[in-house]
Amino acid sequence: MKLFILFCITCFCFLSFSDGRSDPNSVGRVRAVNLGGWIVTEGWIKPSLFDGIINNDFLDGTALQFKSGKVGKYLSTEAGGGTITLAPIASSWETFRLWRIDETTFNLRDCIGRFVGMNTIGNGKDIIAEIGRPGATETFQILRNPNDLNRVRIKAPNGFYLQVKMEEIVSADYEGNGGWGDDDDDPSVFTVTIIGKLQGEFQVTNGYGPHFASQVMKEHWSTFIVEEDFKFIKENGLNAVRIPVGWWIASDPFPPKPYVPGSLHVLDNAFSWAEKYGIYIIIDLHAALGSQNGAEHSSSRDGSQEWGQTDDNIQQTVDVIKFLSSRYANSSSFLAMELMNEPLSPGVSLDILTKYYKAGYDAVRKYSETAYVVLSNRLGPADPTELFRFANGLNRSTVDVHYYPYYNNALSSFTVDEYVEYIYKNQSEQVKQLTTSNGPPILVGEWTAEWQLTNTSKEDYKRYAAAQTEVFGRASFGWAYWTLKNANIHWSLEWMIKNGYIKL
Ligand SMILES: *[C@@H]1O[C@H](CO)[C@@H](O)[C@H](O)[C@H]1NC(C)=O
Ligand SMILES: *[C@@H]1O[C@H](CO)[C@@H](O)[C@H](O)[C@H]1NC(C)=O
Ligand SMILES: *[C@@H]1O[C@H](CO)[C@@H](O)[C@H](O)[C@H]1NC(C)=O
Ligand SMILES: *[C@@H]1O[C@H](CO)[C@@H](O)[C@H](O)[C@H]1NC(C)=O
Repeated sequence: MKLFILFCITCFCFLSFSDGRSDPNSVGRVRAVNLGGWIVTEGWIKPSLFDGIINNDFLDGTALQFKSGKVGKYLSTEAGGGTITLAPIASSWETFRLWRIDETTFNLRDCIGRFVGMNTIGNGKDIIAEIGRPGATETFQILRNPNDLNRVRIKAPNGFYLQVKMEEIVSADYEGNGGWGDDDDDPSVFTVTIIGKLQGEFQVTNGYGPHFASQVMKEHWSTFIVEEDFKFIKENGLNAVRIPVGWWIASDPFPPKPYVPGSLHVLDNAFSWAEKYGIYIIIDLHAALGSQNGAEHSSSRDGSQEWGQTDDNIQQTVDVIKFLSSRYANSSSFLAMELMNEPLSPGVSLDILTKYYKAGYDAVRKYSETAYVVLSNRLGPADPTELFRFANGLNRSTVDVHYYPYYNNALSSFTVDEYVEYIYKNQSEQVKQLTTSNGPPILVGEWTAEWQLTNTSKEDYKRYAAAQTEVFGRASFGWAYWTLKNANIHWSLEWMIKNGYIKL
């Protein structure tokens, strides 16, 4: 059994080099926009995509706590040996992540990766947390009180409901009485609290299920970003797009479930539009098999970060890079291949990452001598120059760093002036250090003009955005805004340009 790093909901182009590297692309520095939320789903970018899912707050990766009203305690796996008990206070041991089988049927995973299941030895009514992949004896139904959806009963694989016995014991031996009655007095009723959720590609496709996902995703892909957007990008002073893709694209039209076919066709369209309007493309492997950071944007099923734990897994990722490089190598728009977005430290070690990056680099070079190979820095505790020495041994490589003052807690009490000063002083110092330390060229592959301030004016945003375009404009490879379209208006470069907040 692998170890998983669970529940880490944590929340880094181009081209005139003065360092002597030859540059057959004469585009100058990259001024790009990310096409986020297009072929790799992120619910916060387009919440409506999830509207049609039944029980859409119980998706894969939703983190739940179950409190018994009868004894006022929470289901817990903290006791030794996988025993399930009840604990007075809810924390990680009292939190369960869903694997959704269908809208009412689930597996429940605890904080160290075990699944709740029937104890197959003994009296046939004990439930435990156990290691291994879930099967029939780990499959539960969660039935919600229609008048109060947070009140639930949990039906075990033996056909009986869980119920609380005495203060700390729970067993699957309640037959049910059909009604809900006084929930607080019923030992089989639990109140659920949702303490975390994921809304990525896995969640949306598995949530709609095999009958509807394909149709919903096709509709989304063909309307969210269209040819007209590439024209808009060209006309507004940008010269490139960074396109997040998921590992399943390489097995189109037969991606493994729950993914649905068609994302490859979408990327093909992007290339033909990019060629038509003279725009460069950075393909960005945003979601690697098993998830490199446990986030929804890397299509993690339940918050686990499992990429890189087996050689197989790494080889399959290299194969995805090979597939994409060979397919687009001869396109005049193929500027760069980003081998993986935001691997998270320490779960992805530097050693494993550079081994993969070397194999990925070779895969790109097999088909293209000219494409740049983008190496994303690790998130989490990591030195921003840790890849420099490695990258210097490669031809036409660049290191991607992401700058989001929005997520910097140290700025939580900042004023508008302080934010702007932070960009001109601190952020610019970081960009300067990275561009002058004899490393590869630097791409600021993600940034955005949003902050934690509320009630700020258009002029405030204009200053903040201008500061960032100026400072990130000094990055030797260039920058890419996150993202073109977003329900949160300031994260949408399209909205920012159309409304006069950003002018390039
Ligand atoms: C690219 O074009 C060249 C010349 O036409 C051809 O030999 C090569 O096989 C093509 N590469 C790919 C990956 O299609
Ligand atoms: C870099 O390019 C040079 C000249 O073409 C070549 O000899 C060398 O092997 C290349 N290095 C790598 C790591 O691809
Ligand atoms: C900005 O840089 C200054 C000078 O290096 C430092 O004292 C300060 O703590 C930095 N501010 C933040 C929020 O990182
Ligand atoms: C928002 O800004 C306006 C104009 O500066 C001011 O009158 C108002 O009091 C502010 N509201 C809050 C909640 O700070």
